Amino acid sequence: MDKPSIKTPLPGPKARAIIERDGKVVSPSYTRGYPFVMARGTGAIVEDVDGNLFLDCAAGIAVNSTGHSHPEVVAAIIDQAQKFLHMSGTDFYYEPQVRLAEAFNEMAPFSGEKRSFFSNSGTEANEAAIKLARYVTKRYGMIAFLGSFHGRTLGSLALTSSKAIQRRGFGPMQAGTFHAPYGNCYRCPVGLKPESCQAECLDFLEHQLLVHLISPDEVAAVVVEPIQGEGGYVVPEPKFHHRLREITKKHGILLICDEVQSGMGRTGKMFAIEHFGVEPDMVTVAKGVASGLPLGVTTARGEVMSWPPGSHASTFGGNPVSCAAALKTIELLKNSLMRNATEVGGFMFDRLRELQQKHQIIGDVRGRGLMIGIELVRDRVTKERATTERDKIVDDCFKRGLLVLGAGKNAIRISPPLVLSKAQAETAVRIIDEALAENRL
Ligand SMILES: Cc1ncc(COP(=O)(O)O)c(C=O)c1O
Repeated sequence: MDKPSIKTPLPGPKARAIIERDGKVVSPSYTRGYPFVMARGTGAIVEDVDGNLFLDCAAGIAVNSTGHSHPEVVAAIIDQAQKFLHMSGTDFYYEPQVRLAEAFNEMAPFSGEKRSFFSNSGTEANEAAIKLARYVTKRYGMIAFLGSFHGRTLGSLALTSSKAIQRRGFGPMQAGTFHAPYGNCYRCPVGLKPESCQAECLDFLEHQLLVHLISPDEVAAVVVEPIQGEGGYVVPEPKFHHRLREITKKHGILLICDEVQSGMGRTGKMFAIEHFGVEPDMVTVAKGVASGLPLGVTTARGEVMSWPPGSHASTFGGNPVSCAAALKTIELLKNSLMRNATEVGGFMFDRLRELQQKHQIIGDVRGRGLMIGIELVRDRVTKERATTERDKIVDDCFKRGLLVLGAGKNAIRISPPLVLSKAQAETAVRIIDEALAENRL
């Protein structure tokens, strides 16, 4: 079971029946691209309820970092579940949570003493970061980047600016939140070339936003994705992160890296910001941290995480079973999976760059490790976004047994479990190649 195998028309009869029931009772706010109904999974292969096998390069939106139901993660979950399921770390103590905080203390991408706050999701990890930044700086302002995604609860939603539909109908947003252009080199917001770039895209933040809109001494934090996820798997030049660190340091503004999608080994390093040689003041993670169990972590410099008892907490946050899954996940990432992400990711990146020679519609291939984006354009000169074409290719990949997701308006995201083998990466590239060829794109 290491290859796709499609036996029924898609969706098959059992999938169709479940989708029909879902349509009557589940919130219509979810965005379902294509009709995949999961039954079980192993490694990077998933099986639907009709017995069709798919190669999973979506991983439940970059979550199943160690592959589906990794036996060692499952064993750690069972072991913890047999001892106790819950004891609220906000009121009592349990060792798995302490061990996990120690693990983050050791690996968070900045020096000095650290402390961690535990929650259940990416948005909650960011809410904690926003509240902590406000609390410790006694400032209210927040700056985020256009195209970013930080979550959908009201604090993080004010930072999110990926798609207008995510904000539409929920305003007004939290006051004091501003946005600046991101370091998107393929579509440089100030029309420059990466070769001569001095991160001029940050001129707006430094010379407009902090001059005309909010005084720097009222800004608590800048929140940035080291590699933009939902925005299209966009990788900035290192200068972007370096200059951002300089600006924030100069004004006593905290730098928060949202590593919810890019963190936990996906890029071949534990945190994507490590590729850029910059030390933030806080990181937030969720998604891949516990291989699929809900967990959010906000890790900050010790002097930053200085709020008093009662100021912030979560009943379920840092649940013991999620902590046990996270500890095993971290062990597996360190032992082999980050290395695999670098090796297989590098191999896949090269193969996709070859595909770019063959298919005019591929405008850009970018990424680190197993976080790879393929941007589709109608014309390589005008870079007109191939939006409907992208959706068609994602659907067609599904029909051929490959699960991928879109990112941004016109990129395909490759975010498989980090156990993906080279042979599976080759299969994924072949399917994308066939889908592009057959659709004559
Ligand atoms: C970078 C980033 N931050 C935050 C979130 C929100 O995470 P969650 O859906 O767990 O709230 C996401 C989700 O896609 C994300 O990609």
